[in-house]
Amino acid sequence: MGFEMRVYGWIAMTILVIFLYPCLCLDKTNRRSCNIYEGSWVYDESYPLYDSLKCPHIRGEFNCLKYGRVDKQYLKYRWQPSNCNLPRFDGKSFLKKFKGKQIMFIGDSLSLNQWQSLICLLHSAVPQATIIQQGGNHPIKNYTFQDYGVSIILFHSNFLVDIEVKKIGRVLKLDSIKHGNLWKNMDVLVFNTWLWWYRKQLSDYIQIGNKIVKDMDRTKAYKIGLTTWANWVNTEVDTNRTKVLFQGISPMHYNGTQWQKPGVTNCAKETTPINRPSSSLRLPPASYVLQSMLQKVKKPIQLFNITALSELRKDGHPSFHNIFHGIDCTHWCVGGVPVPDTWNELLYASIKN
Ligand SMILES: *[C@@H]1O[C@H](CO)[C@@H](O)[C@H](O)[C@H]1NC(C)=O
Ligand SMILES: *[C@@H]1O[C@H](CO)[C@@H](O)[C@H](O)[C@H]1NC(C)=O
Ligand SMILES: *[C@@H]1O[C@H](CO)[C@@H](O)[C@H](O)[C@H]1NC(C)=O
Ligand SMILES: *[C@@H]1O[C@H](CO)[C@@H](O)[C@H](O)[C@H]1NC(C)=O
Repeated sequence: MGFEMRVYGWIAMTILVIFLYPCLCLDKTNRRSCNIYEGSWVYDESYPLYDSLKCPHIRGEFNCLKYGRVDKQYLKYRWQPSNCNLPRFDGKSFLKKFKGKQIMFIGDSLSLNQWQSLICLLHSAVPQATIIQQGGNHPIKNYTFQDYGVSIILFHSNFLVDIEVKKIGRVLKLDSIKHGNLWKNMDVLVFNTWLWWYRKQLSDYIQIGNKIVKDMDRTKAYKIGLTTWANWVNTEVDTNRTKVLFQGISPMHYNGTQWQKPGVTNCAKETTPINRPSSSLRLPPASYVLQSMLQKVKKPIQLFNITALSELRKDGHPSFHNIFHGIDCTHWCVGGVPVPDTWNELLYASIKN
């Protein structure tokens, strides 16, 4: 190479570095500040991630394909954050990354929904792997991928605080969390509670301290329950060891006004997402209650902020395609990449570092 060539080479290199450098920085800051929960659903031919009919672990409530759902387009949407890309879910690297760890979902049937989805996502990556199933009954289901030593655990708890059966009936104890000692030994905790706080079926009385009342304002009760939970995290959980996430409220689709079809009272005819940016949506009022309560936690926890992105998926629910054939626009179809699979992609993105 002649001298001139070398000089030009260096000049070219310098120019390249000068121009590339700010881009690299930008890319880094983008990644750091990227809100993965803000974005839109994009049609992607390469989805779904797996065939849900091949997952032997799906419960009848969520098995939409098995129970007659024929439209398939809902399986072909991928969540695209506005300012960065999500890595495609990779079950094998998930299992390697979390070798020897226990991940626990604690909450109502929406936690069950997400737990199911994660089991199927992982199973589809390693279909031959042995899964040890423990405690098929209430309240714990513990599925361990034996070769990797990874346990994916569900702890069913509708309120996080306790329900006790007494002579007078079922009492919701707003200031007591008796299973906390089991939870706090986990490596990752994903909490969720909301579905039952505004209904009366599961509790006959409410107790705070020594006081028992027949009923009270439900938003107030929800706040007290979440405060108990926040205090428990503050005093009991070592967040250096245990990563704590709280799942945002999972929206339902029983009111067509949400998607500009007033008068529609369920999701049965919906086959595509709402085509609007997530930032334009009005969130369920309880999600503001939840966000303000989470600020009482002094330790580093994350809001697993799936409310808005899920709100767009009016097409993601089982509707009549479930084992009971009753309308369900509350839970989500498991399989491929409808909503709970995406929750798990986001979960992976938020806990892997
Ligand atoms: C889950 O099962 C694994 C494998 O048997 C076990 O090591 C682990 O302690 C169990 N975890 C819980 C919370 O039951
Ligand atoms: C967690 O880590 C921080 C920083 O390393 C340390 O200051 C704190 O004492 C640790 N907390 C516990 C409970 O070990
Ligand atoms: C649906 O939502 C709108 C707007 O929030 C409300 O005015 C309407 O009463 C709701 N309809 C039903 C059936 O709850
Ligand atoms: C959660 O997402 C909603 C909607 O995108 C947003 O308004 C809210 O600020 C987010 N909350 C937090 C704590 O980031």
